[in-house]
Formats: sequence, C-alpha cells, structure tokens
Amino acid sequence: MNYRIFKLRIGVSLGFVVILGWSIPHGVLAEEPPQCPQPRFTQKAPDNIYNLKNPFEATPENLKKGKMLYQVRAKPMPCKHCHGVKGDGRGAMAGGFDPPPRDFTCTKTIKGVPDGQLFWIIENGSPGTGMLSFKGLKDEHIWQILLYVRQLAKE
Ligand code: HEC
Repeated sequence: MNYRIFKLRIGVSLGFVVILGWSIPHGVLAEEPPQCPQPRFTQKAPDNIYNLKNPFEATPENLKKGKMLYQVRAKPMPCKHCHGVKGDGRGAMAGGFDPPPRDFTCTKTIKGVPDGQLFWIIENGSPGTGMLSFKGLKDEHIWQILLYVRQLAKE
C-alpha cells in the first residue's frame, strides 16, 4: 500500500475514534431517557372499565406469568420491544415512536392511573400512536401482565 494512503487511512480512523470518544459520553449516540412524569396521549376508557380493579393477586405465580407474557409470549409482539426489558420505555424499537412508549418505572406517571384504564389500552391500543391492540390476549393474561408492570414502578 502506498505510504501516503496508509497515513491518510490511519488519520481517518483516528478521527473516528476521537469523534466516537467524544459523542458517547456527551449523549449524541445514546437516546435521552423518557420524561418523568411522562405526558399521556391515551384516550380515557369507558367508565365501567376505567373503574375496574385488578381481580388477580400479585402472587409469585401470577407475576411470573405476567413477566413471561411481557418479555416473551405476548402477540403480535412482546411488550419489551417498545417498553424495554426493565420497563423503562427504552426497548429496541422505542426510538421510532412519538409519543414514546410508556416508562413503567416512572412512578409519577403510572401510579395514579387506574388498573381499568391500563387494561383498556392494552386490549385496544392507543390509536395514532405506536401502542398496538392486544385483543388476542385473554382478560386473565392482561391482568397478569399488569401485576408485573405495576411491580416495575420504582417506589
Ligand atoms: C410497538 C411498540 C409497543 C408495543 C409492542 C407495546 N407498546 Fe404499550 N405503548 C406504546 C406507546 C408508543 C405508548 C404511548 C401511547 C400514548 O401515550 O398514547 C404505549 C402505552 C402503553 C400503556 C399506557 C396506557 C395509559 O393509559 O397510560 C400501557 C399500559 C402499555 N402501553 C402497555 C403495553 C403492554 C402490556 C404491552 C405488551 C402486551 C405493550 N404495551 C406493547 C408502544 C408499544
């Protein structure tokens, strides 16, 4: 290889290293964490559903089923792809959505929202946003997922 081209290549590679080294700690490549509290764009559920309380208890068994659905089994796709493995709203697909997926770890957003409201949105989705409808899930499954989701909120 011609020496001058070799030097140029080294120069260019070093340039990239410098740019990367600067941008990672400065958050250019990393996405900003979602706001907390986070604005909600979902429609309010009909009153009879809004006021429902989760009829399932947070037993280890129900939580485990909820977790499996959230992380792996739910169709058309597991919740984690958008809401994140930890529920922080930073799943692999999250960057593509505006408004962003709900951050379940943000207690300020999620704590005051009733079970029935969250149930309704999981079943029907939030039209005009990335939140899909999960009509294929049995009621029982949605309640189990909700137990798990509630547990992700930090105190
Ligand atoms: C393709 C991306 C995507 C997937 C998959 C997804 N969500 Fe969402 N979800 C969103 C987005 C975006 C919002 C924010 C919608 C809004 O604010 O209107 C949201 C909002 C929500 C809300 C907030 C409801 C409210 O009224 O505040 C709940 C609860 C929720 N999702 C649960 C789930 C559950 C449970 C699953 C899996 C069964 C799931 N989501 C899968 C993108 C997704």
